[in-house]
Amino acid sequence: MSDIKIHDKIFEPFISKAKIAEGVKKVAAEINRDYAGKNPLLLGILNGSFIFAADLFRELEIEAEISFIKLVSYKGTSSTGNVVTSIGLEEQLADRHIIIVEDIIDTGKTLHSFMPELQNRKPASLKIATFLTKPDALKYPVKADYNVFEIEHKFVVGYGLDYDGLGRNIPELYILKA
Ligand code: XMP
Ligand code: MG
Repeated sequence: MSDIKIHDKIFEPFISKAKIAEGVKKVAAEINRDYAGKNPLLLGILNGSFIFAADLFRELEIEAEISFIKLVSYKGTSSTGNVVTSIGLEEQLADRHIIIVEDIIDTGKTLHSFMPELQNRKPASLKIATFLTKPDALKYPVKADYNVFEIEHKFVVGYGLDYDGLGRNIPELYILKA
C-alpha cells in the first residue's frame, strides 16, 4: 500500500484490511458472549459508523437488531451549552439493551452530550462500541465498553471515516502524514 492524497493532504497506510477484520471479530465475540439471549439493539451513529456497524453486525451470531441515527447539535441555554439530539430514532428504547456504535471517540464531546437523551428513555442497559478511540484527545468522561483500536492523536480516514466528505470508501485505515 502506498500514500494517498485526499483534497490537500497526504495520508499513509495505517491499519490493514486484515487487521481491521481481526479486530472487529474480536469485539463481536465479546458482544456475542455478553448479549446472548438479550436481543440487543445496535444504534449506529451516521455517517461515520456505517461500515463498522455493517461489519460488526454480520459477525454477531446472537439475536440482535440494528438501527441508525444522525446526531445534530444545537445551542441550548447557557446552562446546558450545546445540546446533541438525534434524528431518525423510531425504536422504543425502554427496557432494551442498547449498544451505541460509533466510528471514533475523539474528545468525547458528541457522546457525552448525547448519552443523557438516551438514558432518559430508560433502556435496560446502555453501552458504547467504537471502532477507534484517541485516548490522548479525550476531554469528556466517555468510556467505550467495546473498542477495536486505540490510536494516537492524529487524523485518520478510511473504513467509513472521511476527510471533508472523501475517503469513507477506502477499505483500510490511513493516517495523516506528518
Ligand atoms: P468527539 O470529539 O465528539 O468527535 O468525540 C467525534 C467525531 O469527530 C470526528 N473525528 C474524526 N473523523 N478522522 C475522521 O474522519 C478522525 O481522525 C476524527 N477524529 C474525530 C468524527 O466525525 C467523530 O464522530
Ligand atoms: Mg462520526
